[in-house]
Amino acid sequence: MNGILVDDAEAVAGLPAIETAPIEGQACLLENYLSQPDHTMDARIAAARAKLGKEAVVLGHHYQRDEVIQFADFTGDSYKLSKIAAETDARYILFCGVHFMAESADVLAKPWQQVILPDLNAGCSMADMAEIGQVEDCWDALGASLGTDGIVPLTYMNSAADIKAFCGERGGLVCTSSNARGAFEWAFARGNKILFLPDQHLGRNTAFSMGIPLNEMVVWDPYMINGGVAPDRLKAAKVILWKGHCSVHQRFLPEHVDRVRRDEPGMQVIVHPECRWEVCQKADALGSTERLIELIEKSPEGSSFAVGTEIHLVNRLAARFAPLGKRVITLDDSGCLCTTMYRISPAHLAWALESLVAGKVVNQIKVSEQTKHWAKVALDRMLEVPTAHAIQRPI
Ligand code: 13P
Ligand code: SF4
Repeated sequence: MNGILVDDAEAVAGLPAIETAPIEGQACLLENYLSQPDHTMDARIAAARAKLGKEAVVLGHHYQRDEVIQFADFTGDSYKLSKIAAETDARYILFCGVHFMAESADVLAKPWQQVILPDLNAGCSMADMAEIGQVEDCWDALGASLGTDGIVPLTYMNSAADIKAFCGERGGLVCTSSNARGAFEWAFARGNKILFLPDQHLGRNTAFSMGIPLNEMVVWDPYMINGGVAPDRLKAAKVILWKGHCSVHQRFLPEHVDRVRRDEPGMQVIVHPECRWEVCQKADALGSTERLIELIEKSPEGSSFAVGTEIHLVNRLAARFAPLGKRVITLDDSGCLCTTMYRISPAHLAWALESLVAGKVVNQIKVSEQTKHWAKVALDRMLEVPTAHAIQRPI
């Protein structure tokens, strides 16, 4: 047999002992599943879930498609799902989201739990925009020009575990879009500058909402010498923003807000803070996926919203709230799709669950012990920073 046998004594009651499949086989192992239509997976997923019972928990990020989210035990934004991952006692955590979320769950999980990402190709282009070598080079360059004593490194959840560990080891932390402001306050209580990784937009929007002017922020380009920032600007900056972005949210433009204002009087524009500063400035409110949902939930009947975030969530909200007399449309007509979130299909979920039933853990996400230690420090600090309500902007 291929793979490592895991503790027979702890095997799921009535199920075979579990072995861990090597990563090499995702494509060929999946072949039989991917050739079947999506809907044929529903009964198989339900049957496998029933067999696994409480041994498995399925977490679904709000951007997952309906066919997958219907099987989630818990849905949420990155903050909520990482809290659930830290609290659940299920042996197997199937994370229907993207790689950095599954990594964080593994860091926060208990040693006997295993985290599974149903498709290993579900990554995040923003997280890929900061590599540990580049971040270390940046830190060395900051040290040479300013000294790093007063600089607190703060990374968005959407980053690899080694970047989280880098921040934890240097007195910094992780944040999500739902507690970014609290994390900035935490950092400014301990230093006078923040290095914010890897999303320049979330960093800029958060700092600006705290009263930091744009001219006190600089953008560090890892492909340029000294980040492409002049020494005097670096010295004066309060926030050093990494040059990263979300390719999905960056597609929302100020013109889209203008069009809604023109064509849909009375409609509120609510956007994720990964959108550009120019878009956020024109919006009525900004918030994480969970907060955007909450805004619509709490609004009175007859309200209408143009939402600047991923299209699967927007479509789901439109369907859910239409019968309640609330209208929800996407801010951009063409609809912005996160193609990596979309990688997780019912076939992948069925394969991961049926493999567990057959005694095999496939697509386990495992962060090395060395990285885990400091990444956990940074994530634990994040979990201590409370989330906030959506930022309401006066218009
Ligand atoms: P949330 O934390 O708001 O769910 O955002 C995660 C994400 O990746 C948005 O692009
Ligand atoms: Fe990454 Fe953007 Fe997709 Fe979120 S929406 S997972 S930031 S690519």
